[in-house]
Amino acid sequence: MPDVVLQIEDLQKSFGGLRAVDHVSFDVEGGQLLGLIGPNGAGKTTIFNMISGIYRTDAGRILFDQTDITNHHPTQIAKLGVARTFQVPRTFNHMTVEENLMVPVVRLRLTDAEASNRVAATLNAIGLYDMRHRNASELSGGERQLLQFARAMMTQPKLMILDEPFAGASPAIIDVIIERTHDMAKSGVACLVISHDVVSLPKVCEHVIVLTEGSVLTQGRIEDVREDARVIEAYLGT
Ligand SMILES: Nc1ncnc2c1ncn2[C@@H]1O[C@H](COP(=O)(O)OP(=O)(O)OP(=O)(O)O)[C@@H](O)[C@H]1O
Ligand SMILES: [Mg+2]
Repeated sequence: MPDVVLQIEDLQKSFGGLRAVDHVSFDVEGGQLLGLIGPNGAGKTTIFNMISGIYRTDAGRILFDQTDITNHHPTQIAKLGVARTFQVPRTFNHMTVEENLMVPVVRLRLTDAEASNRVAATLNAIGLYDMRHRNASELSGGERQLLQFARAMMTQPKLMILDEPFAGASPAIIDVIIERTHDMAKSGVACLVISHDVVSLPKVCEHVIVLTEGSVLTQGRIEDVREDARVIEAYLGT
């Protein structure tokens, strides 16, 4: 069996009468870069919220590294090696850039030297080193995207789930996020990326899963999927 890091099995979630996620199943392997696309409201973020433990599932299972993490606490899931970013960037705005990166360090049990080396390496890797003493509240939207991405990198996860990592980011910042995501995948990290960015996403993922109205419509290579009449219809609503 290939090195499957994440297994989503028959996942379901409703909000009142709305089936946001409806019998969704898929796997992500170590080192794989997989896209998750679909129209607004398709259920993409809801899936991320269940993987990371923020939402409880109604039914189905989530296995990470062969361990059932369904409905586990978000902190416990993060500790096992799942890192995420948020569609609307979440940063600690009363803290500096450097302090933001220190936040996950507490639970990583690093020595002071290890922590400061990792913070410096991460800041350099994403090009925020010179801004390390700036307050996060002073950052632009794109810089905040980078900062939450860097905070996720700090934990050296086995699975990285990125929710619209390119939204609001300039081409230069997008390139950094793309390059660092490729670096992580090369080192064996499984990456699942939600994106509406039709230019940037293909630079990260060859394969995508297309969700619509909570269900998997199709999956495959991006160039094939975007020619699929059902996918075009789902996006355009024609
Ligand atoms: N906490 C919630 N309470 C009620 N409804 C919710 C909640 N979270 C999501 N939904 C609904 O579930 C559906 C799926 O939402 P979700 O955020 O997963 O979509 P998405 O695919 O991420 O869309 P987008 O591309 O716009 O971010 C939507 O109809 C949304 O309104
Ligand atoms: Mg979303």
